[in-house]
Amino acid sequence: MVTKLVMLGCGGFIGSHLLDLLLPGGEYEIEGWDLDDQKIEQHVDRPNFHFHRRGIQQASEQALLRDAIGRADAVINLAAICNPAEYNTRPLDVIRANFLDIYSVVGMCADHRKWLIAFSTCEVYGRTLASYLPPNLRDDPQYFELDEESTPFIMGPIRNQRWTYATAKALMERFVYAHHKERGLPFTIVRPLNFFGPRMDYIPGRDGEGTPRVLACFMSALLNREPMQLVDGGMARRTIVSIYEAVDAIGRMLRRPQQAQNQIFNIGNRNNETTIAELADRMRRTYARITGDASYEDHPIVSVSSEAFYGEGYEDCDRRMPSTVKASSLLDWTPTIPLDEVLHDTMTYFHRAYATTQESVHVVADSEFAELTVNTT
Ligand code: NAD
Ligand code: UGA
Repeated sequence: MVTKLVMLGCGGFIGSHLLDLLLPGGEYEIEGWDLDDQKIEQHVDRPNFHFHRRGIQQASEQALLRDAIGRADAVINLAAICNPAEYNTRPLDVIRANFLDIYSVVGMCADHRKWLIAFSTCEVYGRTLASYLPPNLRDDPQYFELDEESTPFIMGPIRNQRWTYATAKALMERFVYAHHKERGLPFTIVRPLNFFGPRMDYIPGRDGEGTPRVLACFMSALLNREPMQLVDGGMARRTIVSIYEAVDAIGRMLRRPQQAQNQIFNIGNRNNETTIAELADRMRRTYARITGDASYEDHPIVSVSSEAFYGEGYEDCDRRMPSTVKASSLLDWTPTIPLDEVLHDTMTYFHRAYATTQESVHVVADSEFAELTVNTT
């Protein structure tokens, strides 16, 4: 039986990998919306994919969305502005994209009683309790581990506009949950924790403009032989998970609706924790191995203040260590790819896509790329 999906924001980093996973087998028929199709050109002509290159907030799309949702088995929302450099510089757009633009979609899913898989973020947890406690208490997991059912959301003051994204996502989560409680909407909320992989963001000056997320910032610095910049010394910690294992978790949700529905899941890898300073060092050493150029091992790393890097109103999430008990018990999902392997595969992709020319992006063919992907079951 073919499962019909509506996928909003299907042209982005995660969406492109979800399409890679779901379209080839023919078990899914997907109707997708995005403003951009650069990352999904390989799929636009598939018979089981129908793509609308338009924004979901447009008045012209509302009737089309309602009909598509009526026909679908599930709706996956990925559409967002999710780049920290924009949270304090385009706060109104960030609130619109992460809450207002999907407001009507949530209602449509409830009207049709259709399963909504809503991508939120681990940023809803904000800062950890540990970051406010004396140093001797900070290593106690009860003060830093992020649990879907019990951890409070701790965000900074309004003037720190970094939190526009997390706040809009948290309101979206509450809106979805309220529709579930009052109107019977079946839902799954996904809280990703720093997915890394090919096609994440863009390299400034090549295929995009601005400041991307940290992976592409550091890749850009290596490709351009410019210093890697550590924001406030790079002391923040992140856990990094392979995009292949991450989309596999979504595939498992789709195959196990009974277990996945009406749940919130952290999707991250507890074993791949790193400070950003360590990440920069690992990435320069990895790039030395990929290029065979040992000089990258000493690639310059400099520290920069968050105000100089992001502008006024930035505040960082100090640490993101997810509890993944629910994903493991309900989805039988446990990520195993170590950080060094995630970085080696991802950076090899970026090297092949961008290092060959300074002028334009070399689109890596599927055949070239296949060896970089991992098998997930
Ligand atoms: P992305 O920026 O690569 O993809 C988002 C896509 O949404 C883009 O292609 C964009 O064009 C599209 N979009 C934005 N507004 C739209 C609109 N109005 N109509 C149609 N399309 C629109 O981001 P991503 O990394 O693929 O993230 C996908 C989702 O996962 C987002 O909701 C994000 O908040 C969440 N998330 C991602 C990560 C991660 O590690 N990548 C972490 C936490 C949360
Ligand atoms: C990101 C984005 O908010 C979302 O895409 C997503 O919701 C979230 O990750 C997530 O994965 O859950 P963040 O990890 O803070 O949040 O964003 P990055 O740009 O990847 O930055 C990670 C860390 O690196 C931050 O401490 C940042 O200050 C630092 N950084 C970034 C640098 O030190 N140097 C840089 O050049 C760029």
